[in-house]
Amino acid sequence: MSPKKISHISIIMDGNGRWAKNHGMPRAYGHRAGIKSINRVVSACSVRQIQELTLFAFSSENWKRPDYEVKFLLSLFEESIDLYVKELDDNNVRINFIGNLSEFNSKLLKKIHAAESLTKNNTNLKLNFAINYGGKWDIIDSINRMITSKSLDGKIVTPDNFEPFLSLQGSSPDLLIRTAGHQRLSNFMLWQHAYTELYFTDCLWPDINEDELDLAIKHYLKTTRKFGAIEEYDIISEEDA
Ligand code: IPE
Ligand code: IPE
Ligand code: MG
Repeated sequence: MSPKKISHISIIMDGNGRWAKNHGMPRAYGHRAGIKSINRVVSACSVRQIQELTLFAFSSENWKRPDYEVKFLLSLFEESIDLYVKELDDNNVRINFIGNLSEFNSKLLKKIHAAESLTKNNTNLKLNFAINYGGKWDIIDSINRMITSKSLDGKIVTPDNFEPFLSLQGSSPDLLIRTAGHQRLSNFMLWQHAYTELYFTDCLWPDINEDELDLAIKHYLKTTRKFGAIEEYDIISEEDA
């Protein structure tokens, strides 16, 4: 049995729109409040010595939203990179973006690459932002890159030789938190969440705080991870079987 350790948390940050509605405000107001939540959670994870945090910020399906909302979200990403990258760098946070970035405009792409390159040697929290990300896209894109790389050289595909082509390698989340009540993955890291512990809360993303994060971590610490095996105290000798 693996020892209880929490090094990687992933979060589906949901509920910005409902939070805004509850406050009698347009959805954009909720998305802005959601950025403040990101700040709170990033700091809280750093303090708790979490090594990696992966945030689902824009899914490959979110393009279906009205144009004005998509435009607002993309400009909010640009604005937030401008506002927060320096502070994240000062806090030794390494920023990484995953997703089909090729569909973004060159202005946003430039900011993304600059943020990644500025923080690439940082050694505290690794912060992954999933934007224009879809789990199905990730798997298909990896297959295509694997084929193009010609790395197989006649060998069959295995989880071990396939995984290095995925968006995040060697670091599946230990705990996935989804805010705002729905209990679904919404196409978020389908491969990487295969054995992740799942935690759902009704708390809307803009309302998330350290206490909510600690509730999720407490839930995780109470679970027994078995990865298909059985617990040691259930193992009896072969004669007794
Ligand atoms: C999550 O909040 C933010 C994004 C998906 C970009 P929503 O915008 O989905 O909020 P609800 O689900 O409508 O409340
Ligand atoms: C999931 O939230 C995507 C992100 C948080 C970025 P959605 O609000 O898009 O999910 P659905 O549509 O309710 O499944
Ligand atoms: Mg939603």
